[in-house]
Amino acid sequence: MGGKVTGKLKVGVLISGRGSNLQALIDACAERDFPAEIVLVISNVAGVYGLERAKKARIPALVIPHGNYPSREAFDDAMDDALRAAGVEFICLAGFMRLLGAKFARGWEGKLVNIHPSLLPAFKGVRVHEQVLDAGVAMSGATVHFVIPELDSGPAIVQAEVPVHPGDTVETLAARVLKQEHVIYPIALRMVAEGRVKYENGRVVIRDRA
Ligand code: GAR
Repeated sequence: MGGKVTGKLKVGVLISGRGSNLQALIDACAERDFPAEIVLVISNVAGVYGLERAKKARIPALVIPHGNYPSREAFDDAMDDALRAAGVEFICLAGFMRLLGAKFARGWEGKLVNIHPSLLPAFKGVRVHEQVLDAGVAMSGATVHFVIPELDSGPAIVQAEVPVHPGDTVETLAARVLKQEHVIYPIALRMVAEGRVKYENGRVVIRDRA
């Protein structure tokens, strides 16, 4: 019989935790006219809730624990092998909390996106909401961007802005931003899967925003 031929972009999702962004992508892909399908979920951490979400959606899921590998490159290679064996054409990082090496990033150039809980290029790295509150800015948000070897630095596909309210805590701000993450990640994936957005020479080229 062979594999399913659907004409949809075959996506691999990498996670490390609760997987609410994975869920947003699963829900989008469940829509009949959505141009992508998730064919593999990989977590670098065992036992996380995101793996349950994959199981419930009947999506193949693997745990590839980074600690089992002698180097970053060996870990990246193991993921690369699993992704290619599953026929993955495009990768979404969804709360994947390991740095990827330059070889992996270059190998998937233009086919690898991440979601980050700030308006990049502001507030890269970890403890993002804490950084935002410490800086005293009035706006924050979320960014879906192409991944390049430099951390949180690739060009943006979609961004959403949220206000920072006086009295916000890390939790209240994170929840407001997360809600927008779940909106923009499926939008960005649809744009890419329909070929309306491409990565070219370090820039995002948008062919048709309609
Ligand atoms: C999300 O807020 C995502 O933007 C962030 O981790 C959270 C994962 O939540 N990612 C990063 O900070 C990557 N630098 P989720 O597991 O519920 O999707």
